[in-house]
Amino acid sequence: MLRTTALTRRRLAGVLNYEDARRAAKRALPKSIYQYIDAGSEDELTLGWNRQAFTDLSFAPRGAVWVPDPKLATTVFGIPISMPIMTAPCGGMRLIHPDGDLGIAQAAHEAETIHVSTSASGFSLEEIAQVPGPKFFQAYRFSNQEAMKSLVRRADAAGYAGLVATIDTSVGGNRERDFRNGFSYNMRINLQNVVRMTPRVIGHPGWVYRFTRDGMPFKLPNTADITPDGKPMELSALTRTGAESHSPDWDDIAWMRANWAGPLIIKGVLTVADAQRARSLGADGIIVSNHGGRQLDGAPATLRALPRIVDAVGNDLEIILDSGIRRGADVVKALSLGARAVLVGRYPAFGLAAGGTAGVSHVLERMRIELIRTLQLLGCHDIHDLDASWVTDRSTRPLSETEPELVQR
Ligand code: GLV
Repeated sequence: MLRTTALTRRRLAGVLNYEDARRAAKRALPKSIYQYIDAGSEDELTLGWNRQAFTDLSFAPRGAVWVPDPKLATTVFGIPISMPIMTAPCGGMRLIHPDGDLGIAQAAHEAETIHVSTSASGFSLEEIAQVPGPKFFQAYRFSNQEAMKSLVRRADAAGYAGLVATIDTSVGGNRERDFRNGFSYNMRINLQNVVRMTPRVIGHPGWVYRFTRDGMPFKLPNTADITPDGKPMELSALTRTGAESHSPDWDDIAWMRANWAGPLIIKGVLTVADAQRARSLGADGIIVSNHGGRQLDGAPATLRALPRIVDAVGNDLEIILDSGIRRGADVVKALSLGARAVLVGRYPAFGLAAGGTAGVSHVLERMRIELIRTLQLLGCHDIHDLDASWVTDRSTRPLSETEPELVQR
């Protein structure tokens, strides 16, 4: 991990929220890498709807209730976490900062929560497993089915506590901002690319210095055991489609169930039908996710999809939500509608850009502080007390229709 300098500490002190972290990341990173994190796919409809769904919910607070010490701690699949926020699997994190996935895992550990490690990490899954604390491994679109199975076996051997199978990446999302920026994960280090990239990175000397010292990592270390020459594949392998690419399908999930004794969690569920299918194959949980609006544009906002899924399978499966979480208040809204916990991806990635591991810790603590204050202002003592009575859909119904007992008080 890189040392945190006084300059970094000063920069982080100015980061109070998601938008601050986003601005700091924008300053720190070459445009193509910043936009790779920030962007959604195609017209970014789903990206916008994710946010809209949170802003469409207002709270129904209980006034005159003094909550000195709101309880945030919970468990996911029996594993204790200090707050209902975990760090999401995100590819390409070592392009952002040399601390990369190790930094995110370390910050999650320090926050006493779980990091979900991506197949497309900049460090091998075994290296990430060395960071203390429970972690989940995300099986993802990869070059072929054997490669995916090999990763699952290795994750088991390395001691990952849970397996997450992502089902919304049969092909990569059409991220036009990436195409415009010439960012395709395919940024091999050759003369042509260096010449092409120089004008884009010149304004970010700190990033260039760190990235160069880190050995300009464009590889997928997790793949070293499955390439014929034993060398890691280029990041570009992830964007290939067709026979060379394999995303977990339902047969793979049945295979995972048979070969993974711990919790199996299906990520990318947006419909009751898929939630029921996950249940019927013996999954322990699902993640209601549209990949942060980065895959199918037009997929529904996760907060909108959540209630029906909770009604259908909530008694049998633990349900986690991601996509669009920016504030502690958003976490409260997701939990009120039945999520057990949430994943955050972009916010820690922006924190990583702003200050390495310390930046990730900083944004996780910002979220914790917001979560505490939101519960205090709501008059809610414990996240386990949250249910639909704490929120109202502003876009469709006035408070008086949904909360008569509060209005009469
Ligand atoms: C990877 O899963 C990405 O969204 O870029």
